Amino acid sequence: ENSGRLIIVAYRLPFKIVREGDGVNLFQNSGGLVSAVLSLVGDGAHSPVVSGDKIQWIGYTDNSKEELEGQSLENDSFKAHPVFIPEDVNENYYEGFCNDLIWPLCHYFPSHASFDEAYYQAYKTANQLFFEKLEEIIQPGDIVWVQDYQLMLLPQMIREKFPNNKVGFFFHIPFPSYELFRMLPVEWRKSIVEGIIGADVVGFHTNDYVEYFLKAVRMVLGHGNKLHYINLSNRIVKIDSFPISIDFKKFDKAYADPDVIKERTVAREMLKEKIIFSVDRLDYSKGILHRLDGFERFLEQNGAWHGRVAFVMVVVPSRDTIELYQQMKAEIDQTVGRINASYGNINWQPIIYQYRSMVFAELVGMYTASDIALITPVRDGMNLVCKEYVASRHDCQGVLILSEMAGAAAELGEALIINPLDKQNIADSIKLALDMPKEEQEKRMKVMRSRIREYDVFAWTNDFFTQITMLEQEHEKLR
Ligand code: UDP
Ligand code: G6P
Repeated sequence: ENSGRLIIVAYRLPFKIVREGDGVNLFQNSGGLVSAVLSLVGDGAHSPVVSGDKIQWIGYTDNSKEELEGQSLENDSFKAHPVFIPEDVNENYYEGFCNDLIWPLCHYFPSHASFDEAYYQAYKTANQLFFEKLEEIIQPGDIVWVQDYQLMLLPQMIREKFPNNKVGFFFHIPFPSYELFRMLPVEWRKSIVEGIIGADVVGFHTNDYVEYFLKAVRMVLGHGNKLHYINLSNRIVKIDSFPISIDFKKFDKAYADPDVIKERTVAREMLKEKIIFSVDRLDYSKGILHRLDGFERFLEQNGAWHGRVAFVMVVVPSRDTIELYQQMKAEIDQTVGRINASYGNINWQPIIYQYRSMVFAELVGMYTASDIALITPVRDGMNLVCKEYVASRHDCQGVLILSEMAGAAAELGEALIINPLDKQNIADSIKLALDMPKEEQEKRMKVMRSRIREYDVFAWTNDFFTQITMLEQEHEKLR
């Protein structure tokens, strides 16, 4: 039993802070991490380690210090500790090192990666700013859980100054094979690996990512490993896979929610055809253009389906200050326009494309209205959308077409698994899915649903925490 608090450190806070009059409004995010951590507080608390206290959350805010002066930044679950990063630093840090170097490299787009010295300096400065905020609030017994590629240097900084606090680190994106990781300048890759193994427990989504990381530790620092353990001179680090999941019950229950039913009914009435659905952030890692190629190939080869199928493609705006993302937006706009112009007619538009975000009821309305979910990232650490689709299908109907390059493919083998770069493969799978008998859909869906029901996001958090708290006993065993 741990008496300390849980401190999350992540690039983003768990809520948006919006000034209103003299006060602020806090709008809680609905993302995967927030739901996961939420399961640790309140009445339904699932964790053996955290009791009572609100979760302390350190994250960046673009509000100014003056704006937030004297404001209470807490709700029932979280107390936020905002980190202020000067605009020029944040540009080189977030847009630069994080999303113009680490993101493309880890998603196997080395040609998109820029190795800019100023990026690296800003990355160090920003990690230091998060650390300074942590220094202000940390107490003995607190467990610190650091999230993702924006904060890889932080675990080591904490280790040096607060050797007695337990530290976890979770990497939410793919850890790449060493041939990509080694492209980083020598000093950078060394400080990244050292930074990460400052934690007691380091988590990834899949066994492959664990294996690649262990190889990086071996090649860069010369530390070998015994299975999941790295034995350092004064301590042991555990490296393991913890596939993140979703709140299964929330999506399953939503099937019968009146708002969701309304959305589903509207979608089905407006679109008299079969519905194919996809939703993702605008990102080159999501394979949106390849998906469109695959759909076009399907149209080319299946005239009989013209007028009888609609592809609803929702693209959620993301990172739109970065040029590459703007270029991609233009390319998607063009491609959709071209396909619709070639195949559409007065009565039928093959692609219904929207560039916006969706609220929960709309999202689940579409998940449950669609005959096919077409999820084709060219790389994705996990991909939660496909898990949400499966969990939403209380009716056990619908076909999931899923990229083999998504971490989730390791758990969802009953989907139609495709290579997202292979447009013929996508086209064939669409055809197969449209023709799939209901019984077959149900059989596949049932297996996937039971797996996600079993390993939901609460199991994920619980697993990670159990590892942190059991560490000492494991160390005893290993000594
Ligand atoms: N999502 C969202 N707004 C939307 C549509 C979807 O926040 O308008 C959510 C979706 O429900 C899912 C998450 O965004 O939980 C996307 O997670 P995923 O792992 O699929 O991809 P990421 O965006 O993290 O790369
Ligand atoms: C992925 C990353 C997160 C990130 C999110 C949204 O899920 O793993 O760390 O927060 O994308 O991207 P953004 O750049 O808007 O934070």
